[in-house]
Amino acid sequence: MIKRSILRITFSFFFLVTAGFYLSAFAQNKLVINADLGKEVISKHIYGHFSEHLGHCIYEGYWVGENSSIPNTRGIRNDIVKALREIQIPNLRWPGGCFADEYHWMDGIGPRDKRPKMINTHWGGVTEDNSFGTHEFLDLCEQLGCEPYISGNLGSGSVDEMSKWVEYITFDGESPMANLRRQNGRDKAWKVKFWGVGNESWGCGGNMTPDFYSDQYRRYATFCRNYDGNQLYKIACGANNNDYNWTETVMKNVGYRMQGLSLHYYTLPSGNWGKKGSATQFDENEYFATIDRTLRMEELLTKHSIIMDKYDPQKRVGLITDEWGIWTDVEPGTNPGFLYQQNSLRDAILAAINLNIFNAHCDRVKMANIAQTVNVLQAVILTDKEKMLLTPTYWVYYLYKAHQEATLLPLSLTCAKYKLNDKEIDAISVSASKDASGKIHVTLVNIDPNKAQSIETELRGFAAKKVSGKVLTSAKINDCNTFEQPNTVSVKDFAGAKLSGAKLTVSLPAKSVVLLEIE
Ligand code: AHR
Repeated sequence: MIKRSILRITFSFFFLVTAGFYLSAFAQNKLVINADLGKEVISKHIYGHFSEHLGHCIYEGYWVGENSSIPNTRGIRNDIVKALREIQIPNLRWPGGCFADEYHWMDGIGPRDKRPKMINTHWGGVTEDNSFGTHEFLDLCEQLGCEPYISGNLGSGSVDEMSKWVEYITFDGESPMANLRRQNGRDKAWKVKFWGVGNESWGCGGNMTPDFYSDQYRRYATFCRNYDGNQLYKIACGANNNDYNWTETVMKNVGYRMQGLSLHYYTLPSGNWGKKGSATQFDENEYFATIDRTLRMEELLTKHSIIMDKYDPQKRVGLITDEWGIWTDVEPGTNPGFLYQQNSLRDAILAAINLNIFNAHCDRVKMANIAQTVNVLQAVILTDKEKMLLTPTYWVYYLYKAHQEATLLPLSLTCAKYKLNDKEIDAISVSASKDASGKIHVTLVNIDPNKAQSIETELRGFAAKKVSGKVLTSAKINDCNTFEQPNTVSVKDFAGAKLSGAKLTVSLPAKSVVLLEIE
């Protein structure tokens, strides 16, 4: 009798301890999605791109020329266009970057063999032959089905030059610039909405103070006219990183004259511009530090938004994060001025975290452009002559396209920490939206490279019937896609989500990005 009671007590004790362990593991990761409370729309332009005349982004990237043996349409590679259409690229920023403030658009029109050459002083000192210019760029955007975002030259160009560029592209009537455009083979004016008025004017774009830039912005923006129903969305040069004084001064001086204000923030693995860290050879300490640094995007958006709110409480001016991404050392043996870097699962995780952050700030963040689409920095595509591969970061855009123009769903997450040495960060990043057809999409990132995470999810205000998903992960955090093995890191079907009534349990593999579709 006594023996039996002891056995029963011992059993109950073990049962409670075990159940408690599982419950606390579960309780650590609890997600509540308010499916009926969304109000802000996630602009598709958050999923935008940036391509500069830099290294092999344009030349030997998009542009191979009409006589190339690589399949192309009017000189533009067909495989790149197809891949970018697949991720619904919404806009493309061009021609820079630093290059934009040295670029004279008139050198890039007319017969290609007559176009003047220039030195690309910022990027490797190579000769730019201007064979890819305004017509080629706008043709590329038409082939991609995306909106052009042109960055005008305020650093070394004149007000007249910028004003004429707008006229050349967008004026449909009789005028010197419109006629010149016709002479160069394009009858109908293009529509161009996004127009940058200077790039990094605090640095490579002219080393200006915010007050001086504000006055320049006033002049240049005044002469960028709206022709024939084309309504420019003028984007002023915004801050570098945490330069809150720049945002404060420019918003105070000219906030009412702009539609967008940019922000640039790059994640450097080592945290400094000297030795930045390798794209492929890094240990867990460096992985942790990189993710910790990229999470600063949250703080930057919050603080710049607070300043913008002061001058623009109606949130009329968009915060345009038109350069962001990981910036590592170049691949050994490549031209240091070409910024060619590999792309690993780490970079995919980093991109996914940033995109979740942009979504969360979609009341203010109206556009973001990852740097840079092809062969430069955090590229989504790498090419080697006729070969092309899709990087792990590409697959994040493939998964996240579900959020474009969907309604952001408010959520709350309580989650485990990813700890290393004496530091810790949240192990999970998440974003949720509801699309026009009523489907919910949830993007989840398990940042922890060592531990899987189980998440108990409650969907409030939604009767879920079906869940399906996709996952991006790989054996090692520094796994890459190479020309020899292009599919090491790619998307697979995900079977780790289970529905039971209003409860959804998700088992996230370590170091993974997951997309759930809930109907
Ligand atoms: O993306 C590379 C460079 O980074 C851009 O040209 C410049 O705007 C920034 O400093």
